[in-house]
Amino acid sequence: MNSLAETRAISRTIDPAMIFPADFVWGVATSAAQIEGAAFEDGRGESIWDRFCRVPGAIADGGDIDVACDHYHRLEEDLDLIASLGVNAYRFSVAWPRVQPQGRGAWNPQGLDFYRRLVDGLRARGLQAHLTLNHWDLPQALQDEGGWAARATVDRFVDYARGVARHLGDGLTALTTHNEPWVMSMLGHDSGIFAPGIKDRATAMQVSHHLLLSHGRALRALRDDGFDKPMGIVLNLAPLLPATPSAADVAKTRLEDGLLLRWYLDPLFGRGYPQDVLDHLGAQAPRVEPGDLDAIAQPLGLLGINYYSRSVVSASGSYDVRSGALPLTDMDWEIYPQGLTELLLRLHRDYPLPPTYVTENGGAFPDRLVNGRVHDADRIQYLHEHIGAVGVALRQGVPMAGYMVWSLLDNFEWASGYAKRFGIVHVDYETQRRTPKDSALWLRELLRQQAEVHAQARGASKPAAER
Ligand code: FCB
Repeated sequence: MNSLAETRAISRTIDPAMIFPADFVWGVATSAAQIEGAAFEDGRGESIWDRFCRVPGAIADGGDIDVACDHYHRLEEDLDLIASLGVNAYRFSVAWPRVQPQGRGAWNPQGLDFYRRLVDGLRARGLQAHLTLNHWDLPQALQDEGGWAARATVDRFVDYARGVARHLGDGLTALTTHNEPWVMSMLGHDSGIFAPGIKDRATAMQVSHHLLLSHGRALRALRDDGFDKPMGIVLNLAPLLPATPSAADVAKTRLEDGLLLRWYLDPLFGRGYPQDVLDHLGAQAPRVEPGDLDAIAQPLGLLGINYYSRSVVSASGSYDVRSGALPLTDMDWEIYPQGLTELLLRLHRDYPLPPTYVTENGGAFPDRLVNGRVHDADRIQYLHEHIGAVGVALRQGVPMAGYMVWSLLDNFEWASGYAKRFGIVHVDYETQRRTPKDSALWLRELLRQQAEVHAQARGASKPAAER
């Protein structure tokens, strides 16, 4: 592998800040519920998102995941699309209810076959397979027994993880347990704006504990089973800052930082739950049994970070207020690329990071498809600046291993339905036609240039006779 300095020295055409090491992982990311569709086919069971979509008013545009991007039926076409982008990795999730419809017991051979074709298709195209076990679509049958609030679900998840690894493990590059436990616990069980739509803080905190516990137990079980690929978890993290310098805003910011970052990172790295957050929660703190904290603190082979924005915290207002100082995406999220550098440097300072990936980053913008093109200059700028921000952290010693764009396709954006488009590939939901946006072409060119620079560096480092 060439050093960064070597590769930069021969790079004349590209911004040197955008040159990454030759072994850096470049990917696009999706999740099962958001793209697959085929909700009632080939033995798939019901998930909590199928159920939640049917609650009146739950989804902004009344959308559901019955068809979504119809990826289930377009697997080969979509895999070709991924390969055409020049990335070397794909992050996807397995829909638990597709492979184990009741969340326990019998496995669904047709569901497993779909993911077998997916990982084999990735390998055939020279792409790394980064699998997420739980991107929020818990089998409804388990929700009926209490869902993530029930401790028994931890055991169900460990069985599920072992089954997935047994059936698909040989085809994987890396595996993560949960996507964004904060979102599942807080948005799913505290504010209730996501499935399963529960509104109870104590339940939410119990859920967060069970998610962490099931993560640790699953890692342990897979290691005992001989699974030797890098394993980890994906957290949604952000730098938080007080809306004003007032003591109240500063204190609230510290608390929210505890709930969003330290609540997950501290126990994952063996430090237990942060005392200030436990004190704040009081009776709403989760029940933690002896041995749980040791079980959570398994060595991490990788850490995934999803980064979209910063959060500005006000003691009086909502958790996340708008400063008015920064441009917004179509989600009304502030565009703050330097926050990604700040976050990564802080994590590197505070925790012994394993190889770290940005497992999601991207933006929703009001795209328009005109004459077969989407000129999404705003998204290109967003991606360019955030990739640059990863590069800054990398050069300052943060062990960054990869970057994955959210998302490959426009897709079902949870409670926002289909109106918010995050894809670098446009989806026409009437025809299911895929059209790479300008941002996809930009990414392909960036990666082509990287490959060229690394190839030149390899050539330059060979003895003259071999050139
Ligand atoms: C993240 C989710 C992902 C997607 C992006 C926009 O929180 O992990 O599925 O919805 O937000």
